[in-house]
Amino acid sequence: MKILVTGGLGFIGSHTVVELQNEGFEVIIIDNLSNSSIEVVKGIESITGKEPIFEQMDLRDKQKVRDFFSAYDDIAGVIHFAASKAVGESVEKPLLYYENNLGTLIYLLQELVKKGRANFIFSSSCTVYGQADELPITEDAPVKPAESPYGNTKQVGEEIISDTCKVNPQLAAIALRYFNPIGAHSTAKIGELPIGVPQNLVPFITQTGIGLREQLSVFGDDYPTPDGTCIRDYIHVVDLAKAHVVALQRLLEEKHEENFEVFNLGTGQGSSVLEVIQSFERVAGKKLKNKVVARRPGDVIQAYADTKKANEVLGWKALSTLDDAMASAWKWEQKIRK
Ligand code: WQD
Repeated sequence: MKILVTGGLGFIGSHTVVELQNEGFEVIIIDNLSNSSIEVVKGIESITGKEPIFEQMDLRDKQKVRDFFSAYDDIAGVIHFAASKAVGESVEKPLLYYENNLGTLIYLLQELVKKGRANFIFSSSCTVYGQADELPITEDAPVKPAESPYGNTKQVGEEIISDTCKVNPQLAAIALRYFNPIGAHSTAKIGELPIGVPQNLVPFITQTGIGLREQLSVFGDDYPTPDGTCIRDYIHVVDLAKAHVVALQRLLEEKHEENFEVFNLGTGQGSSVLEVIQSFERVAGKKLKNKVVARRPGDVIQAYADTKKANEVLGWKALSTLDDAMASAWKWEQKIRK
């Protein structure tokens, strides 16, 4: 059974391709290599022994998307990761984000609704909740006005899919709202490859640990939290990847109750920035140089998932601890800096 994975050479995409192949799916990857490396194809094959079909393509080219679906008319499902995802960059370049994240989504959906029965998994984000009023955050929590064009593309993306599913009952879709993905495959053959200075906490920590960065800046320790630093739900990328396979199988086996469903994907456990630093120090056996600086604009104080719906309805649960994920991130960092 063929599955299309857009953005399949990216961080979460590549880990999901591995899990799909492990489950016996034949995977076709579309990626424009704007934020990934062709080497990842080999990394995936070195883990599973199966080479995914790779099509280098930019989904902003509507005709190319059409031609692709004419050439591959036996695709059983699509998992759509391809998108720009740098929050700060999206503030500077909103049109690039709206075109890349929403234009491409529309072109994909236009092809899927032509196909008759189609299955679609959308990469969404807890960023849609902004600073939730209640914690842990359930899927019914109100979607707040987006703090960035990036966050808005996730909110609007979900609405586009929902509206399309309403008038196309043969299209079944699931939006997966990720909390904070971290870590790498246990083989250290694939992992996160941030371009330039990492925006996210864990790659900055491991690059500091390996000596690439002088020290970690802790963005504020005067928040109303136990230790004053922000709290997030850090989920191992392999747990996250496995959730995509479970969600896809839900649609393939027609177990979905509605033809558009939303699931939070987190561990349910909140960890502060200082606790993440302590996790690194435990697994790496060394201190991490860091200093507290001013708050980063746009940061929410706390975000961690209520995992009940994913556990009970999707039948999926994150299994790795923060230390497991941090250890895999550190092993990967050491591997790529050899
Ligand atoms: C986590 C915490 C920072 C870096 C973002 C996107 C979200 C999703 C995941 C795509 C915060 C603190 C960070 C640093 C720090 N991306 N921090 N020093 O902001 O929760 O989520 O990435 O879907 O959409 O918004 O993750 O890792 O950037 O920050 O103190 O050098 O670490 O202030 O409290 P975030 P993050």
